[in-house]
Amino acid sequence: MKNFTSVYDIDNLQEIIAKTLKIKENPLENPTKGNGKTIGLVFLNSSLRTRLSSQIAAQNLGLNVLTLNAAQEAWNLEFADGTVMNGDTVEHIKDAIEVLNQYCDIIAVRCFAGMKSKEDDVNESILSQFLKHAKVPVISLESATRHPLQSLADCITITENWKENRKPKVVLTWAPHIKPIAQAVGNSFTEWMQQMDVDFVIANPEGYDLDKNFTKDTKVLHNQDEALKDADFIYVKNWSSFEEYAVMPKVDENWMLTNEKLELTNNAKVMHCLPVRRNLELSDEVMDGENSIIYQQAKNRIFSAQAVFSEILDEINSKN
Ligand code: CP
Repeated sequence: MKNFTSVYDIDNLQEIIAKTLKIKENPLENPTKGNGKTIGLVFLNSSLRTRLSSQIAAQNLGLNVLTLNAAQEAWNLEFADGTVMNGDTVEHIKDAIEVLNQYCDIIAVRCFAGMKSKEDDVNESILSQFLKHAKVPVISLESATRHPLQSLADCITITENWKENRKPKVVLTWAPHIKPIAQAVGNSFTEWMQQMDVDFVIANPEGYDLDKNFTKDTKVLHNQDEALKDADFIYVKNWSSFEEYAVMPKVDENWMLTNEKLELTNNAKVMHCLPVRRNLELSDEVMDGENSIIYQQAKNRIFSAQAVFSEILDEINSKN
């Protein structure tokens, strides 16, 4: 694996899921694999799980970890090429990445959608600069359109919770929010579910369809109750309109997941990537109820990161 920015960087999904579950059994099995190597974790946006799970994963492999909370602690970055930098920006992203090349053997970066320009976000205007200028492997810690380490953890969580001899029905359902949120988690979960042996359905209100480049042939329903019927897993997540970019068209029905709605399902397990707005996206009773596997999902972030770091280290070590 040279870089890790989407499911398409993985050769065999079932193999990496098996490897990740093995790492979970014994996370300290390869404590020296990363010795003498440094991973830079660059956060241009806030994080709790991604930052901490990546640090634990890197430490489990013996990697040195540099964490840069760039939005708070670094110089104000300029992203546009050819700009006369006589304003608020102090350092060009190209120069920052060139310096990271000097310090790091792996660069991992979180760069959310700006939610201002659809074109910039769809084209991954920041991640693409890292991929262009980095001379070391690049790992996405969530970009404008995808959150692959989250999606790998989601696949592991579903695998752990499914023992029946049939395909599970997995529903990604939109949930309410107070402000426009990017589509990255929904897009990414969709891409990974398309490669899993599951029956996958997306439920969202009219006006909230995800980018067709991600949904492709996946069934999209605008009636949540219909979608939830007989579901085995429900993934709750908000996103703003893609078509009317970063806008929140009015929704009349209540899409918050409640125990009443869970009754429509096949006693479905409930997932959410966190952070979650309780009693807006899903109710306290669902969040704290016995169907929630949300904290297990968060724990699995460690092992998904460790599996990916381990694959990247194998690639680096094979060249030395
Ligand atoms: N799920 C997730 O990525 O959490 P953080 O934003 O806290 O890292």
